[in-house]
Amino acid sequence: MNTLAVGIRKAEPADAQAIADVHHEAWRGAYSGIIPHRALNAMLRRRGPDWWANAMRRSATVLVVEIGGTVAGYATLGRNRARGLTQQGEIYELYLRPEYQGIGLGSRLFAAAREKLAASGLKGMVVWALEDNGGALSFYEGAGGRDAAEGVEVFDQKALKKVAFVWD
Ligand SMILES: CC(C)(COP(=O)(O)OP(=O)(O)OC[C@H]1O[C@@H](n2cnc3c(N)ncnc32)[C@H](O)[C@@H]1OP(=O)(O)O)[C@@H](O)C(=O)NCCC(=O)NCCS
Repeated sequence: MNTLAVGIRKAEPADAQAIADVHHEAWRGAYSGIIPHRALNAMLRRRGPDWWANAMRRSATVLVVEIGGTVAGYATLGRNRARGLTQQGEIYELYLRPEYQGIGLGSRLFAAAREKLAASGLKGMVVWALEDNGGALSFYEGAGGRDAAEGVEVFDQKALKKVAFVWD
């Protein structure tokens, strides 16, 4: 049996195309039928490789998980943006290509993102997930997150509830 090496590292501008591909596939898989078609397509179009290369240049922290040399997922992280929550860090996004979901890579990427935030001196962490994204809710509950706040995101006039999970 072949063993594929798994690694997690900071993304570089050369990863922009691979991350854009992961983003495209993962968001389509997670949000088709939840976020209205037009709004989802518009978001996917905007987030091409140039958008990701720029995001990295503007110093957003992006981590990638690789398996056997393929970028299977990414996470973006930084300071918590919600004023009502006292936790200082936030994972903004955590997404895996559909074919790499469910084999533990998300848990490893999540742990690495959490360590990175702590190493930057940020105490506590927040992650938001759409309430209709049942898989994400199970994942964050399983990772010990406490359901601490609710919000709403509007996509093409469709209001969707989101839930904040926190870790102190
Ligand atoms: C959510 C996501 C990051 C989880 O990563 P993953 O590698 O698939 O999850 P893991 O294999 O590490 O699983 C960890 C735990 O979460 C649970 N879990 C993960 N995905 C799940 C799903 N879709 N439904 C139910 N439980 C799920 C697993 O059962 C597992 O629990 P266990 O340890 O008790 O077996 C990944 O599936 C993904 O990218 N999904 C689509 C995009 C998305 O929803 N991202 C989050 C947006 S906020």
